[in-house]
Amino acid sequence: MIIFDNAADMRAWCREQHRAGKTIGFVPTMGALHEGHLSLMRAAAGGNDLAVASIFVNPTQFAPHEDFNKYPRTFDQDVAMCASAGVVAVYAPTARTMYAEDYSTFVTVGGVSEGLCGGSRPHFFRGVAAVVTKLFNAVEADHAYFGQKDAQQCAVIKRMVRDLDMAVQIVEMPIVREADGLAMSSRNRYLNAEERARALCLSRSLFAALDLMERGERDAETVKSAVREGMREVKIDYVELVDAETMRPVERVERPVLLAVAALLESARLIDNIKFNPAGHGGSQQ
Ligand code: PAJ
Repeated sequence: MIIFDNAADMRAWCREQHRAGKTIGFVPTMGALHEGHLSLMRAAAGGNDLAVASIFVNPTQFAPHEDFNKYPRTFDQDVAMCASAGVVAVYAPTARTMYAEDYSTFVTVGGVSEGLCGGSRPHFFRGVAAVVTKLFNAVEADHAYFGQKDAQQCAVIKRMVRDLDMAVQIVEMPIVREADGLAMSSRNRYLNAEERARALCLSRSLFAALDLMERGERDAETVKSAVREGMREVKIDYVELVDAETMRPVERVERPVLLAVAALLESARLIDNIKFNPAGHGGSQQ
């Protein structure tokens, strides 16, 4: 395993690999790795000659009141997990090498970054888009892998790559869940046993709503009400049914949609979602 701590060395290595005819798959992460991250790394290793991951807890995507300081940092274990998933190089810059004291550049991706997490965390996507741009400039990859777990983040990155003519291809990977349905997340470590049990209502409500849509329900308000009802045990941040590409709210389920939720438990804010494509499911004409 090779570990790079600065962009110039990381980029030089990528260029050397490309000159040797190798393709590179890249998985950006903030560490505290779990099976969800590893599924992305295995896909990167399987779909390219070489897989690279980054581990960097990015300060610019956290608001001052958020969990930047307590975000779990498990670097040695993370590097071992990367290796086990087929990653050959890790980019792990420090905040000092990433951000000059007078750093002042952000990337604003309009439209898709509004609403959902962009509504509750207004600082979030400009920080994500900027750091992912910086990571793409260091790790010159052919493919970059992102999880549907953060579906709006995927939409933002895809839009940014298209709008700014970035050369990398974005691959979106399915959500990896615990056996009981809870979407895996680094923030699940914050939960105590009682919160962990209540957190299950997110995935349970989403799957019940998916069942409703599969049986023909097309009215967005009806679907969202059912989800809200199922999430009474937690404080709801949002329950939204949006167009899966534009992230704009829909009134009826007529195109591929994203049903996304966020909830505030005492120790963590959790997000989850499902996608549904009405094509091929009866009842879309009712
Ligand atoms: P992080 O939360 O560490 O997630 C890194 C990648 O793993 C993201 O693409 C995320 O969607 C994916 N992921 C997380 N949980 C998953 C799960 N249960 N199943 C499948 N994929 C999952 O997202 C970030 O870091 C940061 O915002 C980052 C893009 C690295 C920029 O700082």
